[in-house]
This record gives sequence, structure tokens and C-alpha cells, in this order.
Amino acid sequence: MKYQLRCKKCGKVINDFATWFQQDQKCECGSDYAEVEYLELPPFPPQGQATDSFQDYYFDFLPLTHRENVVSFGEGMVAIERWQHLEAAAKAMGIDCEVYVCRNDQNRGSGTFKDISAAMAASVLKEQGVKEYCLASTGNAGTAFATYLAKAGIAFTQFAPSFIDADSVETIRRVGQKVVVSTGGYGDAKAEAAGFHKNHHVLISGGNTDPLRIESKRTLVFECLRQMGCLPTVYMQAVAGGTSPLAFEKGFRDLCEMMPGGDYQLPRMMLVQQDECDPMVTAWEKATAAGFPEGWEQQYEAKKDMHTRIGILTAANPGNYPLVAPLVKRTEGTFIRVKESELPQYGRTMLKEQNVLLGPASMVCYAGYYEALRQGHIHNGDKVLLNTGEGCDRSKWFNEEVRGKD
Ligand SMILES: Cc1ncc(COP(=O)(O)O)c(C=O)c1O
Ligand SMILES: [Zn+2]
Repeated sequence: MKYQLRCKKCGKVINDFATWFQQDQKCECGSDYAEVEYLELPPFPPQGQATDSFQDYYFDFLPLTHRENVVSFGEGMVAIERWQHLEAAAKAMGIDCEVYVCRNDQNRGSGTFKDISAAMAASVLKEQGVKEYCLASTGNAGTAFATYLAKAGIAFTQFAPSFIDADSVETIRRVGQKVVVSTGGYGDAKAEAAGFHKNHHVLISGGNTDPLRIESKRTLVFECLRQMGCLPTVYMQAVAGGTSPLAFEKGFRDLCEMMPGGDYQLPRMMLVQQDECDPMVTAWEKATAAGFPEGWEQQYEAKKDMHTRIGILTAANPGNYPLVAPLVKRTEGTFIRVKESELPQYGRTMLKEQNVLLGPASMVCYAGYYEALRQGHIHNGDKVLLNTGEGCDRSKWFNEEVRGKD
């Protein structure tokens, strides 16, 4: 056996994904948070030319047993580009740093950083003979899972909040999968998905700590080494649930195990939210003001009266904060708020300087970089990585606001 899972709560070993799925993705202790452990990791990095599929190139470092089960459209090996205009903005403030942008919009499945998770899930589910799957999602994850599971021949139902964009619904239906649009918000869609899972015994995606998502997304650490030659000192991302920062940390631990004496350091995690849905930033500000008292990470509130237009960044109730915030603190990072109303302006800057327009969730990360600069969080010598998650294809409203209607 190549891998096993271990419960993060009680430490019990779960043999493999077959057992994990049989146990309804839970440990016997009831916890749904388990991590993949590799029994024997081969030498790192892999030998030979990189391919366009992360599951192909990093196969030996993923919880898949047979290569023929890989489901891929070409994802996870996207360019990590150096964006000079972001470095120039720092320079104008007297800071010398390198700034890299991970172009997840170039993933060929659905053009978001959910493609890696969906590809890994499709492969493992195929390997385990699973025939049906479901998920609650605000858009990007649902579109990605629908696309990859269709390729694997696995039936899929997405439960979406009322505000899901029409293009995502169309994409999901076009690939022959189902989408159930709730009359309520994301919380309602999640409850409907949980009901479907229970009543119809259909496997459901395990949320932010799902080992399939974590294992796939952690390969960004490997890609940083391959493309940048080192790890970044600052990691930035628009945060909703916080899967990706947790995955980066898991990848970092695996790397340290594979390359003892490698002297690697986790980057300072700087996670960004737009002011219209910023429950993690608010909780963090309160903790900072109170001097991080005992149990601070449990103190958070759901955002009320949400008016954000960024459908995929609408996690009003930040249930993952108790896991993500301590990681941010441990790395001496921070949470950053940006103004949603200013994002089109940032879009125009990106277009002018880079001739690229990313989607609004990516723009939250991009604007967060400028805000981090202003707040003095970026230092001389930093290597900043912006993990941007999506292109602009399915966000017509944003495209129009940036470019004008005609
Ligand atoms: C483009 C984009 N950026 C950021 C996020 C937030 O990701 P995470 O779940 O890692 O917080 C998502 C997912 O919801 C996304 O699709
Ligand atoms: Zn357990």
C-alpha cells in the first residue's frame, strides 16, 4: 500500500480511501478530518520532464494506486509568472521584492484552482468504483467537479445557492450533470446537499479539510520549488473556506519529510477577504486587539447582511477559522480586507499593466497585495506568491464593469 489515512483527532489509522468511503468519510471517533500519510515517499523531485497533468507528474506523491485511473484535462502545472508591475509598485515604496502569480485560470478543466481538487477526486472515486457524488458549491467547485466527474463517468449533483451565476449552471448542465438551485443562500444549499447525501446514500465532498482536496492542492508547494526554485516567503490568496492554505502547510510538512535538512520555511500567510464578506478578517482584528487571549481562534461570527457580488467568496460562516487562523498566526501572517467597490479599478490596472483580466475572486487577492504593501506587511527580499483562483470568463458583470459595456 502506498498510503493510509490518519484521523487528525484521535490518531487512528484508516487503511485507505475504500475504508474511508465505507465509513462515510469519518473516523470511528466521529471526526471527519483525516490526513493522507505516505508509507514510503520516493526521492523528490520526480525525474524527467514535467507533463501537463499534476497527477501524472506527481503520481508517486499522490494517494492513487493505478495510473490508468488518472482523470485529467491538463491541470495543476500552470505557469507561476513573475509580474514586474507588482514589483514596481513595491519599489515605488522603497521595497525590493519579487512577486509571482500562479495562473490557475490556465487549468484546462474549468479554468479555476478547483480543477486540481476535482481532478484528484474524480481519479480516486474512479479507482474506488464510486458511481455517484454530490457537493454544495457557490460555483467554481461545482463547475469543476461536474466537468471532471463527467469525464470519469460518475454522476454528479451540485447544490447551489440562489445567486449562482447562469453560466456556471449552463456549464454543469452542458456536461450532462445535475444542478439543484436552492431558493436560499449557501447555508441552505449545504443543508440540501447533506439531506441528499443522507437520504440517497450518495457520497458528498468533505468540505474544506477533505483529504482529496488537501492532497491535490498541496502540490503547489512542489510547483513553487520547480518553477521558482524556492518557496515563497509570503503566500497570498482570497480566502473563503481556507482549504488552500491548509493544503500548502500539509505539502510543506511532506516536503520537509522528503528532504530533511532542506531548511525550508512556511511563508507568511496573508489571506484576503472583500469588505462585503469578511468574517475572518473581523474575527482576526478582534483577536489582535485583545492580544490573542486563550481560545481566541474559537471567537468568530457569521457575517450578517451580506451584499457581495462575488458569488464564490460568500462563506458567511467561517467554520474553518479555528484551523486557518492559528496557521496564519504561526507563520506571522495576517488577514487583509479590501474594498469590493474598488475591484473594477484594480481590474483596469491589471489589464493595462499585464494585458490580462482575472475574475473578481482573483482580483480580491490582487488588491490584497497592494493593501499589504500599504499596511507594511511586505518586506525587502520577500518573494510573494499570489495564488489567484479564476479567470473572468464566467463573470460577465465584472468584465463589463472593468471594460465598459460595449
Ligand atoms: C477563485 C477562488 N478564489 C478563492 C477561493 C477560496 O478558496 P479557499 O477555499 O481555499 O478559501 C475560491 C473558492 O471558493 C475560488 O474559487
Ligand atoms: Zn478519530
